[in-house]
Amino acid sequence: MKIAFSGPGSAATGALVVGVSEGNKLTPAAKALDKTTGGALMRAIKGGTFTGKNGQSLSLLAPTGTRLDRILAVGLGKPDDIDEKAAHKLGGQIYADLGKSGSKSATIVAEAPEKCELGDDALAVAMAEGLRLRSYRFDKYQTKTKSNNNAKPTLTSVTVCCKGAAKAKDAFKARDKVAEGVFLTRDLVTEPPNVLYPETLAKRCQELTKLGLKVQVLGESQLKRLGMGALLGVGQGSVRESKLVVMQWNGAPKAKAAKKGGKARTKADAPVCFVGKGVTFDTGGISLKPSAGMEDMKYDMGGSGVVIGLMKALAGRKARVNAVGIVGLVENMPGANAQRPSDVVTTMSGQTVEVLNTDAEGRLVLADALHYANDRFKPKFIIDLATLTGAIIVALGDDIAGLFSNNDTLSERITESGKKIGEEVWRLPQNDIFDKMLNSDIADIRNISSGRGAGSITAAQFLGRFIGKTPWAHLDIAGVTWSKKDLPVSPKGATAFGVRLLDRMVADYYEKK
Ligand code: BES
Ligand code: MN
Ligand code: ZN
Repeated sequence: MKIAFSGPGSAATGALVVGVSEGNKLTPAAKALDKTTGGALMRAIKGGTFTGKNGQSLSLLAPTGTRLDRILAVGLGKPDDIDEKAAHKLGGQIYADLGKSGSKSATIVAEAPEKCELGDDALAVAMAEGLRLRSYRFDKYQTKTKSNNNAKPTLTSVTVCCKGAAKAKDAFKARDKVAEGVFLTRDLVTEPPNVLYPETLAKRCQELTKLGLKVQVLGESQLKRLGMGALLGVGQGSVRESKLVVMQWNGAPKAKAAKKGGKARTKADAPVCFVGKGVTFDTGGISLKPSAGMEDMKYDMGGSGVVIGLMKALAGRKARVNAVGIVGLVENMPGANAQRPSDVVTTMSGQTVEVLNTDAEGRLVLADALHYANDRFKPKFIIDLATLTGAIIVALGDDIAGLFSNNDTLSERITESGKKIGEEVWRLPQNDIFDKMLNSDIADIRNISSGRGAGSITAAQFLGRFIGKTPWAHLDIAGVTWSKKDLPVSPKGATAFGVRLLDRMVADYYEKK
């Protein structure tokens, strides 16, 4: 779908989208349209339940006095409530209404009402972003699209009209690069596990070299040499070879100069680092999961999907930052060579782990990936993302991710950035009480808690043993990675929760201006 920007104006054909504030206050464009149609717009509004609330919309088909397919009036809500997040939602709503409506083209008139914190151009950009994000579609395996209820969208071109169109067009370029990262994440998470497994997922990472990323893929022999006994233990029941992928984006201006001069990297150039759980399918291993719902475990590589999409976003918009993305890729299968409950593995950090449940595998993969990240890159911070525990869904549901951290500043930054773009996180505690529950009689640490509750907290506490003093945060995204219903800026399925949040956090706090 083509998205373009143009100066204030209207459209003669296709669909025309105008805003109406709460209490049915028409924007100037809506007013003009009401006039052209001989008052039909206002009559339609009055004859229905539309009141201009954000999330509401009203379609007026083939309006007389025009050659338009339809008019779509969208509720802007209260002017002082219209922020970036609300504008994303508006854009998403417009796509939901028009994507399959029959209209091929749409023109959106972006007019910020008085008292709105966004200018016309910022409103236009955020609406376009929401629209783009909602337009995602994964249909590569549907060979008979027309014959089922998943018909192809009709809308192919959208023009957003606003004051400051040139500025908006420019700002949207970067937003659209981030959307490309989001779409990559959704693609990867949606792929079936017979197609997407460690080797093929690593190949998808390698394709990012086109964008200027440095990508290294380590195979089992190299991981063995590094001593990654925990990660390898998870993958040993699978016929697919385990992999660890390291992606580097060196976009900070200073790092380039230092490189040319051959100078050692200074502390200021230290990268930010993202680590992702990439279990391409989690059967549970010998601690086998029940069959009902096991198909969901194709998205157990969701954390790695976010890291890969984020690296694509940062490189795509040429972020002025040094960033490292590391993903641990394994398939957790039962089999003759699978690890057993009570096995003891030695991690790269030297700590030994008693594996009491082979279904608590994500933390084993991350233990080695986190240690490697710390050891090799000495990053400013590490943020890991993982579909780590079912318990986080019990605690926070499907819309909010769990946050765990050893650092208040980092936690606040993540929380703030999430609020701005509409991906909410909630922090849960880490402390000695939980840490003690991980002590093992046989090894240094056990992979499941000896206690009953607090499953997400003890899982995070396990990760913390492999972090040391580096500022670190862990996002448990088990509940938010896949949605069974349409969301404002994401159709049902893979959400890519985390890509926009972390892209925004990098932009707001870590990019050299
Ligand atoms: N991948 C699962 C967690 C999960 C559950 C992700 C539901 C997405 C949706 C993880 O590897 C797992 O199996 N965790 C266990 C831990 C338990 C064995 C301590 C769980 O949550 O039951
Ligand atoms: Mn598991
Ligand atoms: Zn898992």
